[in-house]
Amino acid sequence: MTVELERIDEIIDSYDADRTNALAILQDIQKAYNYLPRPTLERTAERIGVSVGEVYRLATFFKAFSLQPQGEHMLRVCLGTACHVIGGVRILEHLERELGIKAGETTPDGKFSLQAVRCLGACALAPVMVVDEHVHGKVTNDKASKIVAALSQGDELPEAEEAG
Ligand code: FES
Repeated sequence: MTVELERIDEIIDSYDADRTNALAILQDIQKAYNYLPRPTLERTAERIGVSVGEVYRLATFFKAFSLQPQGEHMLRVCLGTACHVIGGVRILEHLERELGIKAGETTPDGKFSLQAVRCLGACALAPVMVVDEHVHGKVTNDKASKIVAALSQGDELPEAEEAG
């Protein structure tokens, strides 16, 4: 995706180019691009009058930010202890095969990113997978495939269980 500096300036201006709003500015940029492209960090630093290093520190400190392009959909497979013993790895490997990428990568069409994560706090539902913001429990290879197929076609997802 091309970075238009005018768009970045609009975001920065909406926060009065105020350095105390740096976090909110980065959140809006992340929302616009789904990650923080390098030129946007440089522009932000220049406009709000801080060093690029400071903006990088913020961008790398908060987990919600990504410096790499992210897929349209994020698939997070839990490899915490409960999920691990009940088949988390099998599901991750299945998705790696199905999507043709490794954990930590994004499909070339930009549709899916795949991540292995630690306990998501929904161990009773193990094995767990979080699709975008939705928790899916008792995941099987078949269920994972159905989720990918539905998202590929822009269909409604099979029912998700929210962690309590
Ligand atoms: S180990 Fe997977 S949710 Fe806790």
